[in-house]
Amino acid sequence: MNKGVKKTSRLAVEIAGIRFKNPVLTASGTFGYGSEYAPYTDLGRLGGIVVKGLSLEPRAGNPGPRTVETPSGMLNAIGLQNVGVESFIKEKMPFLRRLKTNVIANIFGETVEDYKEVARRLDGVAGLTALEINISCPNVKKGGIAFGVVPTEAHRVVSAVKSSVGLPVITKLSPNVTDIRVMVKAVEEAGTDAVSLINTITGMAVDVEKRRALLATKTGGLSGPAIRPIAVRMVWEAAQVATRPIIGIGGIMTAKDALEFIIAGASAVQIGTANFVDPDSAVKAVDGIEEYLKRHRTSVKDLIGSLKA
Ligand SMILES: Cc1cc2nc3c(=O)[nH]c(=O)nc-3n(C[C@H](O)[C@H](O)[C@H](O)COP(=O)(O)O)c2cc1C
Repeated sequence: MNKGVKKTSRLAVEIAGIRFKNPVLTASGTFGYGSEYAPYTDLGRLGGIVVKGLSLEPRAGNPGPRTVETPSGMLNAIGLQNVGVESFIKEKMPFLRRLKTNVIANIFGETVEDYKEVARRLDGVAGLTALEINISCPNVKKGGIAFGVVPTEAHRVVSAVKSSVGLPVITKLSPNVTDIRVMVKAVEEAGTDAVSLINTITGMAVDVEKRRALLATKTGGLSGPAIRPIAVRMVWEAAQVATRPIIGIGGIMTAKDALEFIIAGASAVQIGTANFVDPDSAVKAVDGIEEYLKRHRTSVKDLIGSLKA
């Protein structure tokens, strides 16, 4: 034991028993499996990497067009394209586990049993720090309505995963609900170790000349700066009722944006769409947060939820 010599840092946070050297993670679906970004940024400087959502079988995703630019953001309908959980373990984890950062596997399914099985296969894989459950997916056994918009269904999927794994579980919430606080309470009751929010907001764009939707699937998920004020509001609301840590997501482009979420109640943040604009955004956010903490002589831990009345 190195009694008394544990290095403390202004930037470090602890979530679900995991130490993060800084509060900046990259968001699922915007950072591939990490290796794609290795030439463009220093992966070891990230607080964590959340990988593209994983399902039991590989998926090709939706037909194109599946992304559209919108004012201050983008719409996407990728359709959860991914290599499948087994290829992820065999082909992607060897690279990821060598990095000096936390690796979080984002998972989804079409049934509760799917979620359980993906989670079970990932449990115990060397180098994985936690699971993030994406509950914004259609439940095929309930007519395609998303797990994440019905509290009882969200509860069911989270408790099923939680009872099948030893890894810490983060539940990623959908913003497409009337009251986010109800969802926070439901997934906390089901045993989630933390919540992350928000996922994309359902949107649509139309080509007026052709009178066609711009996405092949017609509707898609809106992300980027356009959704940030909604996300900050939802994190703040979640913080009113949450007893577990919150990870804030939505339109974060800079350190200042990330700090909004932390002050509103988030213990950490994830950066998504910004990676498409500047692949070094997350590392720049870490530097900017550090500069702010020095200037204000404070730490991330003291800043969490420090919004003044
Ligand atoms: C192209 C794209 C793919 C995404 N794929 C996933 C995914 O597989 N699983 C998931 O939970 N969220 C996914 N998301 C949602 C993001 O992780 C994030 O919650 C959302 O984009 C809001 O953050 P941002 O505004 O910083 O992008 C995706 C977002 C985008 C733009």
